[in-house]
Amino acid sequence: MPKIYNGEIVENRPIGGLFLLTVSIGEMVSVEPGQFFLIRIDREDIILRRAFSIFDADRDKLSFLYRVVGKGTRWLSEREVGYKLNIFGPLGNSFSLDSERSLLVGGGSGMAPLYYLGKSLKGDIKFLLGAQTGSFWDRELLLRYAEIGDLEIVTEDGSLGKRGLVTQYIDNSYKKIYACGPIEMLKSIRVDIPVEGSLETTIACGFGACRGCVIETRGGEYRRVCKDGPVFNLKEIF
Ligand SMILES: Cc1cc2nc3c(=O)[nH]c(=O)nc-3n(C[C@H](O)[C@H](O)[C@H](O)COP(=O)(O)OP(=O)(O)OC[C@H]3O[C@@H](n4cnc5c(N)ncnc54)[C@H](O)[C@@H]3O)c2cc1C
Ligand code: FES
Repeated sequence: MPKIYNGEIVENRPIGGLFLLTVSIGEMVSVEPGQFFLIRIDREDIILRRAFSIFDADRDKLSFLYRVVGKGTRWLSEREVGYKLNIFGPLGNSFSLDSERSLLVGGGSGMAPLYYLGKSLKGDIKFLLGAQTGSFWDRELLLRYAEIGDLEIVTEDGSLGKRGLVTQYIDNSYKKIYACGPIEMLKSIRVDIPVEGSLETTIACGFGACRGCVIETRGGEYRRVCKDGPVFNLKEIF
């Protein structure tokens, strides 16, 4: 059951082009890969909590990997160790863990939920991570991914790894693809094998009540990203 925790920040630091936030919530919490938490931003001009996927979970600690894009994430990046953070979760569905040979494709900050997913999957896994340029990643972060699976990286400017878009290097020989990243990236994954993707949209209530996060499927049905997702069979969406 999701609940509100008053967590304490034990780590919140830049790691390449991202920030790594770890919050101690004082009790064990059971979380599934792909689920997310809503973090309250204690600024008068920000009403909606901001959504962040679980990057890692260890006993009473939850970690998030986030990119500073606007007011809320800027505020978050300025919080120091010891700050009490109000977080709500775990929310949403999760990735299925039924594949034994998996390709995990992440674009930019979309790499965040794939780490805990990679730790949870059985069998062979390969991370295929893409960014505009190599300085987006910190060596420490890439090593963490490389410890639990094969790792291939792609940059648009060719400054690190292969050059181009991450989706150009998708290999169909896996049993399943798990993906997270910008909508255009997710839309361009066209393969015969199953694809599960985590979608990002603006979240309001976070638990299915307000319908503020609804998306339309290919079949014309409506789905709530916060409750029916954020993980979807992408072939039903795009
Ligand atoms: C289920 C879920 C999981 C997420 N997990 C992560 C994560 O692990 N790491 C991470 O860095 N981000 C994640 N996000 C995105 C994150 O919630 C947004 O970046 C954040 O809410 C932006 O808040 P802000 O106040 O800084 O930006 P705002 O001031 O609200 O917006 C600044 C700019 O960012 C754009 N923007 C805002 N929200 C999003 C969004 N969801 N997707 C794309 N563009 C957006 C706005 O259009 C605007 O251009 C997730 C979103 C969802 C729905
Ligand atoms: S944010 Fe309220 S239903 Fe999804």
